[in-house]
Amino acid sequence: MSAAPHQTAVSPRSEILRVENLQTEFHTSAGVVRAVRDVSFSVFPGETLGIVGESGCGKSVTMASILRLLPDTGRVVGGSVFFNGADISKYNDVRMEAIRGNLVGMIFQDPMTSLNPVYSVGEQLIEHLVKHKGITRKAARVKAVDMLAMVGIDNPSERLKSFPHQFSGGMRQRVMVAIALITDPLLLIADEPTTALDVTIQAQILELMKRLKAELETAAILITHDLGVVADTCDRVLVMYGGKIVEQGRVGDIFYRPQHPYTQGLLGSVPNPKAPVRERLVPIPGQPPDLLSPPKGCPFVPRCRYAMAVCSDHMPDSYPVADGHKSACWLQHPRAPRADRAAAGVTR
Ligand SMILES: Nc1ncnc2c1ncn2[C@@H]1O[C@H](COP(=O)(O)OP(=O)(O)OP(=O)(O)O)[C@@H](O)[C@H]1O
Ligand SMILES: [Mg+2]
Repeated sequence: MSAAPHQTAVSPRSEILRVENLQTEFHTSAGVVRAVRDVSFSVFPGETLGIVGESGCGKSVTMASILRLLPDTGRVVGGSVFFNGADISKYNDVRMEAIRGNLVGMIFQDPMTSLNPVYSVGEQLIEHLVKHKGITRKAARVKAVDMLAMVGIDNPSERLKSFPHQFSGGMRQRVMVAIALITDPLLLIADEPTTALDVTIQAQILELMKRLKAELETAAILITHDLGVVADTCDRVLVMYGGKIVEQGRVGDIFYRPQHPYTQGLLGSVPNPKAPVRERLVPIPGQPPDLLSPPKGCPFVPRCRYAMAVCSDHMPDSYPVADGHKSACWLQHPRAPRADRAAAGVTR
């Protein structure tokens, strides 16, 4: 897998998904966890949007909030979600059911929890199609065989009869890709789809997703801890920290011209692909913020070497630094002193 970011022009066509000021909370015995704090972003047709950030920064909860798959303790307390032009934040469960797994395909980390162990893989693919597309079982079976072949499963008509435990981990994840894409979704959401797999199989699954996504012209959101995967797969990137988006831009902007000190720290921890022995990720010193009582200013302050007085008191807006590239850091404020910008490695 190459580490050089691949560049695809992001089309100005209207968004598939637009999230505005999303806020999600969990009510726990320890208090209210503010997991997603005013998150806004868009996904455009055909593009792959990567979401990166340390564990606990709110990536999965953002997706669960969009799809309304939160546990009982979680609640979306603000914001709107527009999908394919409609405000789905107002949809009831029945209408959301028609979107999830149908117009939005989903792939999660562990296929064993997503596949039902008591039904054959074929039964699950066929039922899924009959439920969402209203086609006959016979037509669904034909499509299921085609889809299994597309995801690289040999002898697909025989393998339809197999149960999930009769597949290897990598093959199960191929089945999950098949289920996610068989309804021709407008958007694919993949939350760490390969973390549970070994490195070779990970590369195969990502290559498969990339190929099918291009063939089917599906837009995708890919959550991953692997910056090499982001460089290889994504068009644009959101960087999350402490329940907020701190930087977003095209993959080249984020990798070559990172503006937010947190992004700069994250990139400093990319293993060197040319090193003879793969280096361990170097963590950024310090702890992420406690989302039970998030700071009123920038959540990165305690770990930021450029922190100024204003940073603790006020959360900065997201300032444009280039076309489509924004950073929520006071250093990028248009009137920020040049000396600070230079110190932070800000080049424009
Ligand atoms: N059911 C829950 N109850 C209370 N807090 C929760 C719950 N689920 C998530 N959180 C909190 O919400 C925040 C965001 O969690 P989330 O799962 O979105 O993180 P993430 O970015 O996906 O991390 P990871 O990379 O580890 O998957 C975390 O602080 C987490 O502790
Ligand atoms: Mg997660």
